[in-house]
Amino acid sequence: MHDIRVMKGDITVLDVDAIVNAANTTLLGGGGVDGAIHRAAGPQLLDECRALGGCQTGEAKITSGCRLLARYVIHAVGPVWKGGHHGEDELLAGCYRRAMDIAAQKGICSIAFPCISTGVYRFPKQRAASIAVRTVRDAAARGSSVKTVVFVCFSEEDYEIYLALCPSPERP
Ligand code: APR
Repeated sequence: MHDIRVMKGDITVLDVDAIVNAANTTLLGGGGVDGAIHRAAGPQLLDECRALGGCQTGEAKITSGCRLLARYVIHAVGPVWKGGHHGEDELLAGCYRRAMDIAAQKGICSIAFPCISTGVYRFPKQRAASIAVRTVRDAAARGSSVKTVVFVCFSEEDYEIYLALCPSPERP
């Protein structure tokens, strides 16, 4: 059984086992949610990220949560939107699938995702949300330690999109 929740707000303050970061291939920080996570987690997060040696697009790697309430940060690298004919959909699905796999390997029960690739990387929001929800549902259906997935929306627009994709009784 899994529980998919949708909320509006700041992912850095959530009390979940793991939050997912929308990182870049260097894993050395940036703006957007990446910058917010590094600021909230403190400088030790950058030290841990340096040791990981980067990450390919469509993949993910895990660190501790440092100063965050979350025990772990799973750094996923989404694709830059280039019009949709450069494997963007599959690469975005890869982020969610790999993050769910890593979470299961660690025995994680609760995980929160931001809207990966839909900020600076310009992936269309509706299309990204459909991929995110479908991939997470498929991963959960395969059986996993993950019991609660939270989609964290920073904008009202994303929140409305996710609410429509995750209707009651999946709402909290
Ligand atoms: N909590 C939750 N969501 C947030 C937060 C936050 N504190 N801050 C921003 N967001 C949302 C944005 O509104 C957007 O919907 O995260 C989503 C992803 O946007 P970006 O952070 O721009 O990520 P992305 O499009 O994947 O681009 C990744 O941005 O900063 C760099 O290092 C990062 O180079 C990488 C690129």
